[in-house]
Amino acid sequence: MALLFRRPKGTEDVLPDRVGYWQFLEGKVREVASRFGYGEVRTPTFEEAELFARSVGEDTDIVSKEMYTFEDRGGRLMALKPEGTASVLRAYLEHGLHKGGGLTKLYYISPIFRYEKPQAGRYRQSHQFGAEAIGSGEPSLDVEVIDLALSIYRELGLSEVSLLLNSIGCPKCRPSYRQELLKFARAHREELCGDCRRRMETNPLRLLDCKVEGCGRIMAQAPVISQYLCDECREHFEEVKGGLRSLGIPYREESKLVRGLDYYTRTVFEVVHGGLGAQNAICGGGRYDGLVEELGGPPTPALGFAGGVERTLLAMEAEGKLPELDERVEVFVAYLDDPGREALPKVLSELRRAGLRADGSYTGRSLKSQLRQADRMGARYTVIIGGEELAKGMAIVRDMELSEQREVPLDGTPKVLREKLG
Ligand code: HAM
Repeated sequence: MALLFRRPKGTEDVLPDRVGYWQFLEGKVREVASRFGYGEVRTPTFEEAELFARSVGEDTDIVSKEMYTFEDRGGRLMALKPEGTASVLRAYLEHGLHKGGGLTKLYYISPIFRYEKPQAGRYRQSHQFGAEAIGSGEPSLDVEVIDLALSIYRELGLSEVSLLLNSIGCPKCRPSYRQELLKFARAHREELCGDCRRRMETNPLRLLDCKVEGCGRIMAQAPVISQYLCDECREHFEEVKGGLRSLGIPYREESKLVRGLDYYTRTVFEVVHGGLGAQNAICGGGRYDGLVEELGGPPTPALGFAGGVERTLLAMEAEGKLPELDERVEVFVAYLDDPGREALPKVLSELRRAGLRADGSYTGRSLKSQLRQADRMGARYTVIIGGEELAKGMAIVRDMELSEQREVPLDGTPKVLREKLG
């Protein structure tokens, strides 16, 4: 058969044989996030494109090259969301969650869309789990958010994770760093790519996360921001590091880590995994103390992170930590003849109402092939029904492991099987 349609490049189908891994991961995220006091938020798949231009930044790759934008039928410019933070803050303001004046802690699991060059671990539709803590500038909150991210990875069984940490300062101290960076970039102008030459004019910090290899080599020699932090930012960073140490969380200071989104201030971090190739960042986050205000709200410090679901699953696979999935049916119902086949839907329905995972064959095959199917589906018991037994109100219950069978009153089978299956 020639396929008429294929899935779009950079997207994946998750079939039942693997969906259990996703459910396992999502379950752990929900469990750990709620233990930390975060409530789930679900935001739309698309938003006004301007929301991301304003928050993630016009000059970022995400907005300038990768966003799926479209004009809707009403002529509005919309975008499939390329990340979750902007949407969460939009919802936070729209629903007046800022009015309480306290701390708001939210988490989400959501698809994101970026028109990237697909490769292992990089997709055009991927999925993130993330958390945002909005309403406090305390360094201890940075520590909590990082602890939350790492706790999720620990609960998933991952051990080859490393935390990379940096501070990128605030609007007070960043301009002096920007000057120095620009001075350095001007001296190397001819060696930089066209995009970087443009970035020099618009947003020099973005020079540090250019994906072109030659630019990366040059920028590795550039001045680092840690030397330009103001006293408040330096103190904040020290307190975050002290807090991490007191929780026994190891970190590596990475002076070139600036992240690919414009909204960050002060603390930024990534979690990388040793078992992955080039796309080894399984999580990224940081503070964004100016963003709520930028989106029209009151000055409100905040921070958060997002982890990639696909990359996290790849990391679990690399460490052999994907869970055993039990997709087996508990009870299979087979029929011997036409009266048995007619009774099949009712017998199945009663077993399912009794809470059993039950299935049967609708394909009109012989008993032998039905039993083979029951074996393939991993059934522990098979209920066999036929005209003769039905007339007596009985059914045959077959233990598939022991290959033993006996007659049981039909209306008592759900109860008998529930007891046998514990
Ligand atoms: P981000 O670093 O762009 O940050 O994405 C976070 C994580 O999402 C990455 O580390 C990666 O695991 C995953 N990811 C991103 N793009 C792709 C892709 N194309 N294919 C596969 N995985 C991908 C953010 O999105 C920020 N909103 C994080 C944040 C939340 N900062 C503060 N709060």
